[in-house]
Amino acid sequence: MENMQDHTRVPLIDGFGRAVRDLRISVTDRCNFRCRYCMPAEGLAWLPRTDLLTFEEIVRLTAILVDSGVTSLKLTGGEPLVRRDLARLVAMLRSLAPTLDISLTTNGFLLKEHAAELAAAGLTRVTVSCDSLIRHRFEDMTLRDALTEVMEGLEASAAAGLTPVKINSVVIKGVNDDESLSFARLARRTGFEVRFIEYMPLDAQDEWDSSAVIPARTLIGEIHESFPLSPQEHSDGPATVFTFADGSPGRLAIIPSVTEPFCASCDRARITADGRMRACLFSLEETDLITPMRTGADDDELAAHMQRCIAGKWAGHSIGREGFVKPARSMSMIGG
Ligand code: 5AD
Ligand code: SF4
Repeated sequence: MENMQDHTRVPLIDGFGRAVRDLRISVTDRCNFRCRYCMPAEGLAWLPRTDLLTFEEIVRLTAILVDSGVTSLKLTGGEPLVRRDLARLVAMLRSLAPTLDISLTTNGFLLKEHAAELAAAGLTRVTVSCDSLIRHRFEDMTLRDALTEVMEGLEASAAAGLTPVKINSVVIKGVNDDESLSFARLARRTGFEVRFIEYMPLDAQDEWDSSAVIPARTLIGEIHESFPLSPQEHSDGPATVFTFADGSPGRLAIIPSVTEPFCASCDRARITADGRMRACLFSLEETDLITPMRTGADDDELAAHMQRCIAGKWAGHSIGREGFVKPARSMSMIGG
């Protein structure tokens, strides 16, 4: 549980009174999949390895942010498990912050191999991206024929105690919007939490169109007809969570970023793999932390850069409205 007395630094509060609690750090821009809504099929240049934050640098930035009130950390990518020795980073972060909620947002392909060591290193839980339960469609969406490996990764995570296991499913009209019941059955059978995410304009190839967005709530409506659902009283950040009215295990959730933006209560901040802080997924500006860190800035100076970044956080995104400008970097570069 959060304890205000624990922080020794001024909390990171933006001009609209929102405090940063949830930090996402991308550990690599590389990925072993090519999800169409995230990355181009080819031709995306990787960051040079020397531009990536080292584990020591990640731990140092995290320490400052935990001292400033961050209570939850998500390691993202690209695909975080393609960064060598990720479990060592998890262990370093765990010894820094014994009570921090540390989760991993992964495509699941390498989880079978790594779930046990990640759990032993102190990871709290995983969120696995999986947009289709149909093999050929999964391949179509990710450009990898890897549904089997992802399913095995999910099982390995549950077995390792990285629970509650969550699945992120980005739903796109005409592509995978007919699988709500299959995902509901999967949740009931496994106890996983399936989260339907609305398609956002963060793809690398500028294919996004508002007509391709499926309002996440309509999927819940469809499922409710076959498996009655009860909304949970406490929402989980931007997610609205539902349980099965018949008491079955498993949960469903929606993250309606486009049709019901949750910007007003946003408590997130992000750090890219090359050490830039972003106050919003859609920010057009980034605050460089890596350069000051590598040229001798002390923790107070880094904290001041972070304060400046968060102070400039805007009220919210304007997806779908006139004047919306897509960020220059796509999702795999920003980190989910
Ligand atoms: N719209 C919505 N979600 C996206 N993700 C990646 N690209 C997009 C997009 N354009 C999701 C991934 C992953 C999370 C980090 O972000 O599926 O679950
Ligand atoms: Fe890789 Fe994740 Fe992007 Fe898919 S969504 S290409 S798994 S970073």
